[in-house]
Amino acid sequence: MRHTVPAGMERKESDVYLRLDRARLPQHIAIIMDGNGRWARRRHMPRVAGHRAGVAAVRSTVETAARIGIPALTLYAFSEENWKKRPKTEVDFLMRLLCRYLKAEIRTLNGNNIRLKYIGRQHELPESVQREMAEASEATSGNTGMLLTLALNYSARSEIVDAFRSLAEAASRNGGLGHMEVDEQAISDHLYTRGLPDPDLVIRTSGEMRLSNFLLWQLAYAEIYVTQTLWPDFRGAQLLEGIEEYQKRDRRYGGLGQDGHGPHREHAEAKR
Ligand code: IPE
Ligand code: IPE
Ligand code: MG
Repeated sequence: MRHTVPAGMERKESDVYLRLDRARLPQHIAIIMDGNGRWARRRHMPRVAGHRAGVAAVRSTVETAARIGIPALTLYAFSEENWKKRPKTEVDFLMRLLCRYLKAEIRTLNGNNIRLKYIGRQHELPESVQREMAEASEATSGNTGMLLTLALNYSARSEIVDAFRSLAEAASRNGGLGHMEVDEQAISDHLYTRGLPDPDLVIRTSGEMRLSNFLLWQLAYAEIYVTQTLWPDFRGAQLLEGIEEYQKRDRRYGGLGQDGHGPHREHAEAKR
């Protein structure tokens, strides 16, 4: 059955959208936005031009995800390692770009009913950036649609360290460390992502086959989709292609999967 295409969708996007099973959309998509520097280098431009061009990719991806009803989208914008290991000029540029994005995007986020949140060690970011971040999330806090989470100064290992510290502090407030209860749920509840379902799908652009310290706990059973597309060239249509690929996967969670035969594609194929 043909379903209707959300308003404002481009031709290429709607072609892919019509092939999707709307009943099986991922509930949470995480994206490692990579390849800005390479995009710029191919054009003989400075690396920062790639970051600037990446903003259009963010805008298109966020709008498309919201339009098709994805409940949660998490974007890895800036890692703790980026902050420590890149030249100050590049880091400063990224901070200015982020502030400009936050200011400019509030209107679009509100227009699409999107709530904005952050994960990462915010307190280590410049105060002016923290102020801008607080303002943007405050301005969108009444929205009830998609939750957009920006990972800024984020490191999955730091997140796990912070979760353990927070568990220990909670225990010492409640009768001492002897009362500390540690199980998977307790750890999940103390991560920055508490309350969010684990991502079903993680997308990485620019062909790199690694997680680079992103959501290590939460991605335990996520489907991984790597595209060669460099981040500044990524658009809603590419997001939908990632979802299409995701819908072809057989998620087994350590079991035997849909067909009950385990990882034998030809069996599954023959039975259809
Ligand atoms: C991703 O692009 C953006 C950030 C990490 C901030 P890169 O800057 O990592 O681009 P490449 O990987 O060097 O091409
Ligand atoms: C991962 O990209 C971090 C973000 C996209 C923010 P990097 O470019 O920093 O990762 P590595 O260095 O290639 O692992
Ligand atoms: Mg990179």
